[in-house]
Amino acid sequence: MDQAPHFTSANELTELAWRLIVQACTQRRHPFHTPTLSTLSERGPESRCVILRHADPSAWELRANADVRSPKAQELLSDPRCTWLFYSFPDHLQVRCYGRTQIHHLDDIAAEAWQKSQLLSRRCYLAPMSPSTPLDEPNSNLLPELADREPTEEEAQAGFANFSVMRCQVEQMDILSLRFDGNVRIQVTPNSDPIWIAP
Ligand SMILES: Cc1cc2nc3c(=O)[nH]c(=O)nc-3n(C[C@H](O)[C@H](O)[C@H](O)COP(=O)(O)O)c2cc1C
Repeated sequence: MDQAPHFTSANELTELAWRLIVQACTQRRHPFHTPTLSTLSERGPESRCVILRHADPSAWELRANADVRSPKAQELLSDPRCTWLFYSFPDHLQVRCYGRTQIHHLDDIAAEAWQKSQLLSRRCYLAPMSPSTPLDEPNSNLLPELADREPTEEEAQAGFANFSVMRCQVEQMDILSLRFDGNVRIQVTPNSDPIWIAP
């Protein structure tokens, strides 16, 4: 797409944002597949890429997976406020989702996501050291015997203890559509009509 559509309906823009977010859950090369998740850490805001695993436009919900020992999961446990940032160059669209993210660990939501995950992804959750542990030398933190293969279903099972789902309840979205002849921007919440705001 050379240009974004000329939006005159804020609802249409909201629908487009959710449509792209839903598509991105299953399309690995989709520009929205790896949003930036920002949390609040002791030293201030912290941001990182995550893989978008699930999105539900009717519930205004986003999900991604993380090691429960990781700084991001621990930050969200102490303060669930967060922002998920998406940008699609081909769609000329930026979407910011503000909300609160709960950590699901050893519960039904975690178990369902674990079942859907690939064995190779599960390998990361068998990491012997907590993510962000300082090291004397480069170390992948993979179990040495699994460095060159995926674990079996049985081997992977121990990783479930470290696996968590970050489930965000989106409370507000800020959507910016870029156009040569003028950008447009809206703010929208689940329970109110979107409003146009100056880009
Ligand atoms: C493309 C991409 C996708 C990523 N997806 C995830 C993810 O889904 N979950 C995750 O915990 N880390 C993911 N990471 C790694 C994080 O961005 C981050 O570097 C790491 O988890 C440490 O984060 P933390 O110290 O803030 O917890 C991804 C990194 C990249 C580059």
